[in-house]
Amino acid sequence: MNSFEAITIFENVIDRRKAPSVKWNTMEQVFGVDDASDILPMWIADMDFAAPKVVIDAMQECLDHGVFGYSYLDETCKDAVRLWLENRHAWYTQNDWMVLHHGVVPAIASVIETFTTKEDSILITTPIYPPFFQLPNRMQRTLVECVLTEEEGNYSIDFVEFEKALQQNVKLFLLCNPHNPGGIVWTEKELKKIIELCARYDVLILSDEIHADLVFPEYKHIALAAIAGEEAKRIITCVAPTKTFNLAGVQAAFLISPDANIREQLEQDRLVHGQMGINRLSPFAASALKAAYKEGYPWLLKLLEILSLNMDYVIQELTEKVEGIKIKKPHATYLLWIDYRDTGLTEEKVMKKLLDKGRLALEPGSKYGEAGKGFLRMNVACAPSLVKDGVQRFITALS
Ligand SMILES: Cc1ncc(COP(=O)(O)O)c(C=O)c1O
Repeated sequence: MNSFEAITIFENVIDRRKAPSVKWNTMEQVFGVDDASDILPMWIADMDFAAPKVVIDAMQECLDHGVFGYSYLDETCKDAVRLWLENRHAWYTQNDWMVLHHGVVPAIASVIETFTTKEDSILITTPIYPPFFQLPNRMQRTLVECVLTEEEGNYSIDFVEFEKALQQNVKLFLLCNPHNPGGIVWTEKELKKIIELCARYDVLILSDEIHADLVFPEYKHIALAAIAGEEAKRIITCVAPTKTFNLAGVQAAFLISPDANIREQLEQDRLVHGQMGINRLSPFAASALKAAYKEGYPWLLKLLEILSLNMDYVIQELTEKVEGIKIKKPHATYLLWIDYRDTGLTEEKVMKKLLDKGRLALEPGSKYGEAGKGFLRMNVACAPSLVKDGVQRFITALS
């Protein structure tokens, strides 16, 4: 991709209000406002950029075929996933380790359903992506929470607390790797400690690696299972091209496990859902996934550059112009985790100011659990002109 193409792709503002976009067209319901037609959405995690051209072309080819009958995941799709994981993350998997799902959230639900009962506990580290606590709650599992330690915007796991938490009848640990929110790329030392402790207490690990490709070049994503040796048998990893290439609505994800027994149980759960007509693969998903993993890398490199520049801009402007705002640049993702605790404002007040005065929609931190209070999550995956607009709205709201 030359720089001219990159500029047109990532600077282009697409009118997403024309499409049924959750991000742009459901703010009245989500934020409880009467009219959101002039509110700028920088909340839910999808990007305002068009998907890579190679992906659009592949989907167009599928469209031109004209027949959209039942589809399935063939070996060429699995080859594309396997080669991507090898080339990008030095993780050597096999095609038959992959169990297809239409999304990471339903895949997590399937793991909870398959490997835990209502008598079991599930461990999470907070603040965390809401389905990590919503799913266990809804499925009537006991939730055990290990609050992450935060110091000057840096998050880490207190392993003394983590070990204590593991002793509370925990059967499954839900790891977010990289972590949303906060964009944390865990170090090898941290990941090895997680593996060691989970092995000691015989706890299964679900490693959600949906953000793995959105890691800035200064950091390195480590696939948990790739460094686990023998213990990889207790790790089920979620991977998906949907966050990376902005294909959330297209729906495709994988659970990966090297353990045949685990896979067999996951396949059984899939079969039950299949019999209910749930969890079928759209032919568009198969085409998009294959094209993204085979040919999407140059687009991804450019995307990461733009995201990094967008983040630098927001951090510079907001920390300089709004008193009490602190932002640590994340290692990964397109989500900024804005600390407003020093403004002394409550979440209710901040949200009201942002929505009423700034006409800006951000995610309130409490959505990520109690530990998220005092923070806002801002999605900067949009054209730089929209980012500038968002920054101005934030300044107007809070000054
Ligand atoms: C950590 C994490 N997992 C899963 C998802 C959503 O996955 P899916 O749309 O495939 O269900 C998100 C979306 O933001 C996420 O941040």
